[in-house]
Amino acid sequence: MSSLCLCLTAPTYDGVLAQLERYRSYIDMAEMRLDLLNPSERLKAVDLPVRTEIPLILTIRLPEDGGLWGKNGETEEDRVNLFLSLLESGAWAYIDLEHERTMADAAAAAAADAAGTRIIRSMHDFDGTLLEQPVSDLAEMIRRMAEGGSIPKLAARCTGSRRLLTLARVALATESIGEKVILGMDEYGTPSRILADRFGSVWTYASALGGPGEPPAAAPGQLDPKTLETLYRFSEINESTPLYAVVGDPIAHSRSPIIHNGWLRDAGLKGTYLPVRADDIATLLETCDIWGLRGLSVTVPHKEKALAICDYSGYPARRIGAANTLLRVGDGWRAGNTDAAGFLEPLPGAMGLGSVEELKGKKALIFGAGGAARAAVHALIDAGLKLVILNRTIDKARQLAEETGQAWGPLSDEALPLLEGGVDLAVQTTSVGMHPNEKADPAPWWNPRGCSLVYDMIYEPVETVLLARARSAGVRTLNGSDMLKAQARLQFELFTGCQAPE
Ligand SMILES: NC(=O)c1ccc[n+]([C@@H]2O[C@H](COP(=O)([O-])OP(=O)(O)OC[C@H]3O[C@@H](n4cnc5c(N)ncnc54)[C@H](OP(=O)(O)O)[C@@H]3O)[C@@H](O)[C@H]2O)c1
Repeated sequence: MSSLCLCLTAPTYDGVLAQLERYRSYIDMAEMRLDLLNPSERLKAVDLPVRTEIPLILTIRLPEDGGLWGKNGETEEDRVNLFLSLLESGAWAYIDLEHERTMADAAAAAAADAAGTRIIRSMHDFDGTLLEQPVSDLAEMIRRMAEGGSIPKLAARCTGSRRLLTLARVALATESIGEKVILGMDEYGTPSRILADRFGSVWTYASALGGPGEPPAAAPGQLDPKTLETLYRFSEINESTPLYAVVGDPIAHSRSPIIHNGWLRDAGLKGTYLPVRADDIATLLETCDIWGLRGLSVTVPHKEKALAICDYSGYPARRIGAANTLLRVGDGWRAGNTDAAGFLEPLPGAMGLGSVEELKGKKALIFGAGGAARAAVHALIDAGLKLVILNRTIDKARQLAEETGQAWGPLSDEALPLLEGGVDLAVQTTSVGMHPNEKADPAPWWNPRGCSLVYDMIYEPVETVLLARARSAGVRTLNGSDMLKAQARLQFELFTGCQAPE
């Protein structure tokens, strides 16, 4: 099981102690980043190991490795001297020294050996190009970093799914090294921080985040200890923990981790559900194979490709032509779709109707022809509605409409003649207006007046520009929140075989 290490990033010593106090109950160890501490206060850290009674890492980072040492005119000699002064106490569990500075840091390494302080040999790669090298070369580099009993640490920026896969493969190829840290920086690399155990990392790093005046994270993509522990149950993750994820791009806004992790906990089930940013779903699935991931929620923009690359597909996904759920079956993946059922669940109530049957014969306008639109279109056709499908890429609108025998048009005012006589329902399924582009309106030329309901699948923001316009026009509105919960509940049942708790 991996430990949780808090990076102490405050510029004052009191701030450092406050960070430790705030996260004390979540962490196993801490890293004292002396380069981030005000120069006049650095020597105060000498008593930190005695005060904290948890294993501490002593680190002074140079700018090229993501630190601030030298920004106040400090020299290389000052750096060595500071190391030597602090190591004298013999109370530091670890010292972090850059692999590429082995010669320059020889004096600090000797003092660490004499003090019984373990050496971490670090390699930081901020542009991620290291991960373009063959896995075997990277594994060999890590083996060399482990020589002499050091703990090798590789922190490489993950700029896409391919690099996260490389990192996972490097972790696999260095399985025999008992103590190491392998992690990916940036949002694409965040899974390596949550799944430190799967990466064979002895610990993961976290930063104090979000407090008033809090400094930035010690490295890009770090989470705070409370989130790691309370949301992802970090300390319970081991090789038998069932893993699930939501995969998309963007992914930071997704509420699915809060929903699924809450249900897993409330149902008393083992398991962690994490957000994974992916620019390529096929590459991501290869990475999931290494992690042994059991189930995936799929979101923008991967739903159609997810269906295409799956080994098996369930009836709803095949018919809809998009998958929002992937389940591991043996060595492969089975595609499913819970969007259609989730979409329909809140609809009659939101329209003031008693049942789905009462939707029959009504006319609906659909904005968009992507994966989510496909789910809505099939659900509405099954419920007996007539549809007009409008999309920016007109060929996709035509294809979906022709597949299902509905009307279609462009996502522009040229489609207005198709809407003569009005519509009972408008369903917004494009990503236009979604966080962070909250000011965008997918159809500024369309007036919602006269419609019974405008249903926008977006849930972040709570009210999109389109929904605000509808409300001002006296039209009922529904955002994507209820659908999100309904489709997630069905997914949870597929993932775990258990009902989602109320
Ligand atoms: N509430 C829920 O549970 C739930 C479930 C599923 C989806 N959603 C939401 O539904 C939205 C779409 O998801 P999806 O899975 O269908 O994604 P998708 O398959 O990638 O489809 C995206 C759709 O948005 C359109 N679009 C994107 N950018 C556009 C722009 N700048 N102008 C006009 N149209 C644009 C695309 O048109 P083109 O074909 O021209 O690219 C396509 O119709 C997302 O906001 C997602 O969060 C919510």
